[in-house]
Amino acid sequence: MTAAPCKVVALISGRGSNLQAIIDQAQAGKLNIDLCAVISNCPQAQGLARAETAGIATHALDHAQFPNRRDFEATLEKTIDQYRPRLVLLAGFMRVLSPEFVRHYEGRMINIHPSLLPSYPGLNTHARALENKETQHGATVHFVTPEVDAGPLIIQRAVPVMPDDNPDTLAARVLETEHRIYPQAVAWFSEGRLTISNGKVLLDGQTRPEQGLIIDSN
Ligand code: GRF
Repeated sequence: MTAAPCKVVALISGRGSNLQAIIDQAQAGKLNIDLCAVISNCPQAQGLARAETAGIATHALDHAQFPNRRDFEATLEKTIDQYRPRLVLLAGFMRVLSPEFVRHYEGRMINIHPSLLPSYPGLNTHARALENKETQHGATVHFVTPEVDAGPLIIQRAVPVMPDDNPDTLAARVLETEHRIYPQAVAWFSEGRLTISNGKVLLDGQTRPEQGLIIDSN
């Protein structure tokens, strides 16, 4: 890899296992990124400790300490932008972001969501998939747009729902797949292979079948 590493800032709120998957791939030399900083709105987030272990700068910005969302987001934006990232990752970041904030990062902020979007945006996706007797579930990485969990899809991967699944067992299966597709999406972005055209993501300038979705079912 000869190109300059893609500067990345990640936003988290909790466990940080997706963050860890990306750290692992970067440390293994499989991602040409410079993960400059990890920012959490929860000071106790386990993901902050993971970042520290990896020698990455961390910031805890407790949203509850700000008088309103506007002030929180202004500080968040400043904290992110000091690193001049090409890419901002939402990796289990549990705050809804205002349209103004999202627009500032248009085309360079991506999110991982535990469902096959557009099915099951929002929370409790695994329990809802089970209630609806779905036979498959999965995860999606997408560009972030002002509407929550609705931006252009970069990659999706399906997993089967087993007859004896409960929300936890299903979540664990989906999480494994998240740890595969998020680093893949970051790799494509960092290599400059993703573009957005008419609301659809192109990989190497090509649409894929299924209306441009990149469905990885290996
Ligand atoms: C993941 O399921 C992700 O899809 C969702 O929040 C969870 C975060 O998990 N947005 P982790 O913090 O990456 O372990």
